[in-house]
Amino acid sequence: MPQLANRQVLLGITGGIAAYKSAELVRRLRDAGATVRVVMTPAACEFITPLTLQALSGQPVHLDLLDPAAEAAMGHIELARWADLILVAPASADFMARVAAGIADDLLSTLCLAAKAPLLLAPAMNQAMWSNAATQQNRHTLGARGVRFAGPAEGAQACGDTGPGRMLEVPDLVAAACSVFASGPLAGVRVMLTAGPTREAIDPVRYISNSSSGKMGFALAAAAADAGAEVTLIAGPVHLPAPAGVSRIDVLTAAEMHAAVMARIDACDVFIGCAAVADYRPAEVAQQKIKKTGESLEIRLVRNPDIIADVAAHRPRPFTVGFAAETNDLLLHARQKLERKGLDLVIANDVSRSDIGFESDRNEVCIVSATGDGDPLSGTKLAIARALVEDIAQRLRVTRAHPAGAVPT
Ligand code: PMT
Repeated sequence: MPQLANRQVLLGITGGIAAYKSAELVRRLRDAGATVRVVMTPAACEFITPLTLQALSGQPVHLDLLDPAAEAAMGHIELARWADLILVAPASADFMARVAAGIADDLLSTLCLAAKAPLLLAPAMNQAMWSNAATQQNRHTLGARGVRFAGPAEGAQACGDTGPGRMLEVPDLVAAACSVFASGPLAGVRVMLTAGPTREAIDPVRYISNSSSGKMGFALAAAAADAGAEVTLIAGPVHLPAPAGVSRIDVLTAAEMHAAVMARIDACDVFIGCAAVADYRPAEVAQQKIKKTGESLEIRLVRNPDIIADVAAHRPRPFTVGFAAETNDLLLHARQKLERKGLDLVIANDVSRSDIGFESDRNEVCIVSATGDGDPLSGTKLAIARALVEDIAQRLRVTRAHPAGAVPT
C-alpha cells in the first residue's frame, strides 16, 4: 500500500458498535505506512476505550475541543492542518447529519469543518437509519460537496436486522484510504458501474433474466480501481467476487438497480452502465407458483425504468458510458443508443457470437462517440477493460478542461 506511506491520517471514531473494528483499522493503517492520530466523540468512548487506541496508534488520543491541556499540546486548528486525510470510521447517522449541517459542536465535527484534507466517511448504522430519507439527503449533500464514502456494506447487523448499513471490513477501508492518494489516470475520480443481469420475478420460483455473467462489468470495476478511482459496483445476481478495493452493492431487479444508482448519483463523476438490464418486467408477480392449467400462458410485461437514460438526464450529470449489446447492425444501433439516451460514449459489442459477449472471458468492442467510431478492440475482458478505462480517463480530462461542451475535435 505505497499510497499511505508517510501519510498523516486522522481517524475519527463516532459512537457505534462497529467502533470495535477501529482498533484493527489503526493497526492496518500503520502497517501501510501511515501515522495515525485518533479523535473520538464522547459516544465512541462508550464502545471502545481511548487507552486501547492510544496504545495501538502510539499517539495521544484527542477527545475534547475545550481541554486546555490537549489544546496546549496540539490545538484543534493545528490538528486539522496536520491531517492529509480525515477518515471517520464508523461514521454514525448523527455525525453525518452534523457534518452536512456544518455543525461544529465537538472536536471531530470541528476538525471536519476546519480541515482542507479530503474527508472519507465509513457509515455504520441500522439499515432503517441508513435508508431514512434524512440520512440519504445528508449523504447526497455531503457527496455533492466532495466528501467521499466507503460503504456501507449490506448484510447481517449487530441489532439483528439485515440490510445496508454495516461498516466495510478493515481491508476495504484501508483500500478506500489508499484510493484517496492513488496516482493512476482516474485518481480522485468516483466511478459507479452496473454489471450483470437483472432478475424480474414471474412467481416465487420463476423469473425473466438473461445470461450476463458480470465478467465485463467486474473487469471494468477492477481496471477502474487499479487506475486509482473510487469505485462503486452495483451488481445484479452473479457469482463473482468483488475486485479488491471496490465497494459492492448487490441488487436483483431493474427497479432495485435503478434505486441503488440514483441514490448515489450525486457522488459519481463517471457512470458506466454495463449491466444487461431487463427492459420489461411482469406487470403482476404471482404470490404462489403458477400452475400448469392450459396450452398457453400469457404474461403481461411493463417497461422498466431506463437507468442510464435517467443518469444522463440528471443534473449535474456524470460522464456517462453505456454499452450496446446487439445481434445485428451493431454500429447503427449503438449510434442510435448514444443519441436517444444522451450518452457520452457507447461501447458496442456483438452478442450473437458465442466466443465473445455474454459469459465469455473475451470480448470485441467498438467505442462509439459523437465524434465517430473507434477501431475494434479485442482480447480478454480485463485487457479491454483496461483500454476502455484509459480511453475514458483521457476523454474525462478533455471534458473537464472544456466544461461548456466546447470539446475540440
Ligand atoms: O456480463 P458478461 O457475461 O460479461 O457480458 C457482458 C455484456 C454483453 C452484458 C456487456 O458487455 C454489455 O453489452 N452490457 C449491456 C447489455 C445491454 O443491456 O445492452 P442494451 O443495448 O440492452 O442497453 C443499452 C444500455 O442501456 C446499456 O448500458 C444498459 O446497461 C442500459 N440500460 C438498458 C435498459 C435499462 N432498462 N436500463 C439501462 O440502463
